[in-house]
Amino acid sequence: MLKNDMLEQWDRENFFHPSTHLAQHARGETPTRVIKTAQGCHITDRDGNQSLDAFAGLYCVNAGYGRSEIAEAIAQQAHELAYYHSYVGHGTEASITLSKMILDRAPKGMSKVYFGQSGSDANETNIKLIWYYNNIMGRPEKKKIISRWRGYHGSGLMTGSLTGLEGFHRKFDLPLPYVIHTDAPYYYRRETEDLTPEQFTDHLVAQLEALIEREGADTIAAFIGEPVLGTGGIVPPPPGYWPAIQNVLDRHDILLVADEVVTGFGRLGSMFGSDHYGMRPDLITIAKGLTSAYAPLSGSIVGEKMWKILEQGTDENGPIGHGWTYSAHPIGAAAGVANLKLIDELGLIENAKNVGTYLNQQMQAAVADHPNVGEVRGTGMLCAVELVENRAGRQFFDPARKIGPAVSAEMAKQGVIARAMPQGDILGYAPPFCLTREEADTIVSVTADALNTVLNA
Ligand SMILES: Cc1ncc(COP(=O)(O)O)c(C=O)c1O
Repeated sequence: MLKNDMLEQWDRENFFHPSTHLAQHARGETPTRVIKTAQGCHITDRDGNQSLDAFAGLYCVNAGYGRSEIAEAIAQQAHELAYYHSYVGHGTEASITLSKMILDRAPKGMSKVYFGQSGSDANETNIKLIWYYNNIMGRPEKKKIISRWRGYHGSGLMTGSLTGLEGFHRKFDLPLPYVIHTDAPYYYRRETEDLTPEQFTDHLVAQLEALIEREGADTIAAFIGEPVLGTGGIVPPPPGYWPAIQNVLDRHDILLVADEVVTGFGRLGSMFGSDHYGMRPDLITIAKGLTSAYAPLSGSIVGEKMWKILEQGTDENGPIGHGWTYSAHPIGAAAGVANLKLIDELGLIENAKNVGTYLNQQMQAAVADHPNVGEVRGTGMLCAVELVENRAGRQFFDPARKIGPAVSAEMAKQGVIARAMPQGDILGYAPPFCLTREEADTIVSVTADALNTVLNA
């Protein structure tokens, strides 16, 4: 196809980009990049520039780009049946098969899957189900949801409220009532320097207990958390965190929502983060890795305890008043079936574990001693490099200097995409599961180079 030279102008005139500085983009101060093709871990723009995508889009193209098995499943589904709804007991072969495949892989005690389109809408579903559950249980006061600062759960009204990042609240009149935040399990940013990781866990647990005491357990419905904090900085929890939190929630009859939008289907090197960390969730949010983003599809996996009450609720009140035109869209479901099969057949979760471990080790070895690197952390196919002005006393850069974005931009110039995480000068890495060791080496060497170029200048 001929290069369409109006495209950039059309972009600035017509396209409202998410998570973008709208004014700068409209004025042409930030670049437009038009991505045209992709294969494996590499994307190519319409000018022919190739980049190694070390963030798998938005940590979602887990199977890697250009998988014809998934593309063909989508095409076949579109030819055979592009759409039918899933209301009042309707389904398609793909949506029914996929729900079975998900339950076969899910942690113990899960019962059904409700399908949506995005991680945000799946979490909106979760909150509605939690409120419905407590109304049917005859405890209409038990409605508040505890989330963590730096947690990310979407950018809708309720999910944007649950998200604990200021940029998602500012000028949007969020968070809404019913949402309360507690501290993130972010050891590197702990307030008290001399706590061990174990003591930090104890501190967070005591803080949660105090919060529940203050608010009243009879007003708190649920706690939501990502097994590993994602957008808030890619932070694995300190030792013993989840079992200890689970224990507090159990004692106060508070439901647990495991938001596995990033971690679900293998990113930690195991199928689900809940199993990996000993969480016993009542609801699990899934999206991204469910289809490797070949088509939009998300899900709320509902545990047995809640499911029984939802059934009771419909006996008492009639059909559940929740559903969307595109719930369980057949094209998304066909992509999901093909994607999960492919991940199994190619052993991609095993590869994520092995090459992810290698990436983390090599990153440690290459940059952990740099004077502006505060911490290198990660697990599975997730890694982060946190930058500081001064390691002593964990002195962070002034955010206005935008050091993280500068390093990420320098890396992009050298052909590697790492994400400048939105809060803090943190470089994030979440490559496709098919990453090779050679590609991991490239990510590491370009990171080291870019750090030197930006910070030793
Ligand atoms: C943990 C988590 N939950 C929810 C979401 C929201 O998903 P979506 O952007 O598909 O609405 C994200 C997106 O990054 C996420 O990382």
